[in-house]
Amino acid sequence: MHIPTLISRKREGEELSTREIQQLIAGYTTGEVPDYQMSAFAMAVLFKGMTASETATLTRAMMSSGDCFTHRPGHPPVVDKHSTGGIGDKVSLVLAPLVACTDCWVPMVSGRGLGITGGTLDKLESIPGFNVHLSLDQAAAQLDKTGLVMMGQTEHFCPADRKLYALRDVTGTVPSIPLITASIMSKKLAESLDRLVLDVKFGSGAFMQTKHDAEILADSMVAVGREMGVEVFTVLNPMKEPTGRSVGNSLEVIEALECLEGGGPADLRVIVLDLAEKIAGVSRLELERLLDDGSARRKFDQLVAAQGGNPADLPCLGRIHKAPIIREMLAPTTGEVSKVDAGLIGQAALQLGAGRAKASDGVDFAVGFDRLVKTGETIHAGQPLCRIHARSAVDFDMAEAMAAKAVRIAAH
Ligand code: URA
Repeated sequence: MHIPTLISRKREGEELSTREIQQLIAGYTTGEVPDYQMSAFAMAVLFKGMTASETATLTRAMMSSGDCFTHRPGHPPVVDKHSTGGIGDKVSLVLAPLVACTDCWVPMVSGRGLGITGGTLDKLESIPGFNVHLSLDQAAAQLDKTGLVMMGQTEHFCPADRKLYALRDVTGTVPSIPLITASIMSKKLAESLDRLVLDVKFGSGAFMQTKHDAEILADSMVAVGREMGVEVFTVLNPMKEPTGRSVGNSLEVIEALECLEGGGPADLRVIVLDLAEKIAGVSRLELERLLDDGSARRKFDQLVAAQGGNPADLPCLGRIHKAPIIREMLAPTTGEVSKVDAGLIGQAALQLGAGRAKASDGVDFAVGFDRLVKTGETIHAGQPLCRIHARSAVDFDMAEAMAAKAVRIAAH
């Protein structure tokens, strides 16, 4: 196959054949197709798009570039959730153990945070000893025993996406609906699911800035999932303000634990239940009971123990990861909180060290925000708007200045 011709055909908006897409992905996976040709191809797709059939073929080719889960005969329904990423989004930490309490298997393969959005793997790794590097065989054994696994992508799991996602990140080709669809769905479909729910975010803290774009992305992912025999549900969620009241790795785990114990912020619980009821085999009422009676919390302990952590550490996370500076930021005026800008809070958390600017960076588990006010709350001058957890006074000042811009108070 002549790759320059294929790139030119896509540049002119032509539809590529199944064979062409399959060969391109196979060649890229082995290294025969170099990064410079693949980045030109990705840019052509960004500008010219793909048909639904091309997108499905691309997804299938990327999924088949490595190993897929094979579940033993007679397995219970296999389900998962994926979020397109947000600020303070610790939903997976609650939803996965909750749904695993309902006689479903949840083989959740997650990613790391990049840019302002956090990643489930980074949050889990703030639990001492928690191992996200499992082989598919280890994952299968754990699924059989506990019904739940939360892990990272292995070298052999969708390797085409591993390479292509890293390439897109540095070539300005991330915001392409066919490429996002293929990237997300190839990984989810490699889990060999029966049901999948997609939490598609839109707003200042999300990939998709408008609801309209989020709907197009949701439709594209549903179409690909259906074509491959998976029941796919979508829930569109605004990402104007952070989810819950905390942003930052261990701080988010602490908040997720509260939710797993039947408490926690109301918005977090609602999102968890809205998504979980689409894929779990039980009613919303039953899901609420599983949160309130401690079942979901016990399942999380089981997960932590199975993956190398010690559940006894969970109540002590705040002490294990204690930032040198933990200080409140106070409201300058009295009024109603009219805005808590997710994008700005995410940016501040990133600069505090909670996230990474490039894939090879490490993350600081201790830093971030907690006790954040929520839109609609009444606040009096001098009351706390949030707590900032920082490594240094300079970092604290930076985060405080950004949070002052993020939170708006409208006089009554
Ligand atoms: N998450 C992914 O895994 N891939 C994308 O392209 C975007 C978000």
